[in-house]
Amino acid sequence: MSQYFSALQSWCEEVFTVYQESIPLFREKVEEHALQEWEANITQLQEELSDQTFLQEWEAYQRANELYLQLNDYLAALHQGEDQRMTNQLEVVPIGGHTLPPLPYRYNALEPYIDQETMRLHHDKHHRSYVEGLNKAEKEMQKARATNNFELIKHWEREAAFNGAGHYLHTIFWNIMSPQGGGQPSGDLLREINQSFGSFAQFKKHFSEAANAVEGGGWAILVWSPRARRLEILQAEKHQNLSQWDVVPLLVLDVWEHAYYLRYKNERKKYIDNWWNIVNWPEVEKRFNAAKHLRWPPY
Ligand SMILES: [Fe+2]
Repeated sequence: MSQYFSALQSWCEEVFTVYQESIPLFREKVEEHALQEWEANITQLQEELSDQTFLQEWEAYQRANELYLQLNDYLAALHQGEDQRMTNQLEVVPIGGHTLPPLPYRYNALEPYIDQETMRLHHDKHHRSYVEGLNKAEKEMQKARATNNFELIKHWEREAAFNGAGHYLHTIFWNIMSPQGGGQPSGDLLREINQSFGSFAQFKKHFSEAANAVEGGGWAILVWSPRARRLEILQAEKHQNLSQWDVVPLLVLDVWEHAYYLRYKNERKKYIDNWWNIVNWPEVEKRFNAAKHLRWPPY
């Protein structure tokens, strides 16, 4: 059996365990016949995998992916109203299975700094298109591997980088803002900012200047380098250019025109100045504390 099929088999087992653990809860929220159908489908898939019925990896993948998305819907139904992140009990996003994360607040929550219409377009249209573009690229690259046809690989790699970076950065961006934001960070993050940049005021000035000077669409990004064990401020052009790939983004500011044009027109600087009022520092501290656990040899 190919490596891919046996990986898919253990994936099925893992998913089935999650399903079994959640069955008592599912019974309250999900129709019994839907559960039975899901169970029958995964059992069927597992049988076909062990009988080696599949000729194409692609076909087996599609069946597994359907099951995964279905199960994710059931899990989401259990946690309606709770933090969506809690529902992600399955740790692996399957190939082509990225989803648009919900905004952690209402569309108008960041008014007057970021207007409702911008948030709606930015999240529902722009971010969604990055998710869809990434899924498409991942599936096309998987198809290329399955058919051994790599003619368009350069194109799909570019799409995966552009849309993948777009998806991940926006996912951070929504969470590092909050209607209760603003002010300064505290604790370890503040100490590290002081050490890396001199003071919070100097950091803020540097970050704002970097954001303002991004050429075209892009980002200002505060990153943690597990190798240098220091903070740094970087720009990203588009989503993926100018990256230091060894670092962990902590605080990201979207300076594409789609992030501010409706309210601020070409006054990017004003948008940046106002944006500091909604920075969700506790989330940034959380990211920083998690990133600090990475310990890589210093070079
Ligand atoms: Fe954006």
